[in-house]
Amino acid sequence: MTCIKPDSQGLGYHDRTQGEHQMNETAQAERSATVAWSDALCLDLDFMDDTHREFIDLLAAIEVADDDQVVARFAAMVVHTEGHFGAEDQWMKDTHFSSSNCHAVQHDVVLQVLREGLRRGEGGDLTLLRDLARELGVWFCQHAQSMDAALALHLRGVGYDATTGQVLRPEALPTDAISGCGGSCSS
Ligand SMILES: [Fe+2]
Ligand SMILES: [Fe+2]
Repeated sequence: MTCIKPDSQGLGYHDRTQGEHQMNETAQAERSATVAWSDALCLDLDFMDDTHREFIDLLAAIEVADDDQVVARFAAMVVHTEGHFGAEDQWMKDTHFSSSNCHAVQHDVVLQVLREGLRRGEGGDLTLLRDLARELGVWFCQHAQSMDAALALHLRGVGYDATTGQVLRPEALPTDAISGCGGSCSS
């Protein structure tokens, strides 16, 4: 039986069978985001924190998505992550990090995993995409509080302007390229 009824928020009408409607409501009720922004993730650098908040929102949106939304939301998160990681890699290049530093390498590895996950998700493995979104939230908390926190400290120290790429305190830059990341993996 096809029914047309207002959605729960009164924002419009969905044309679906009664069975589908009840099934989707049940699935939606069972889904909740495991990742959420917290002050512990704040690095006191607006241009970094803003991107990180967006990233968390995109992960949460994947976790609670209906089946027909998961791939598109995951794809949007991958595009955002390419920009997010690409920007941090550029800031590191602008402030004397070596191109092979461990922070940039970790970005590359994670992006490879996400692109492979998207490929498999487009083939129908939606569970993988939801699992990846949840695991990415766990990984990100650790990454933000170690590698990104160290980068934020460094950028503040040299007076980096992310809009112009200018270093306002060049005298604070190290003379040799930084090969570590300042995070927990660095000696
Ligand atoms: Fe980041
Ligand atoms: Fe990072």
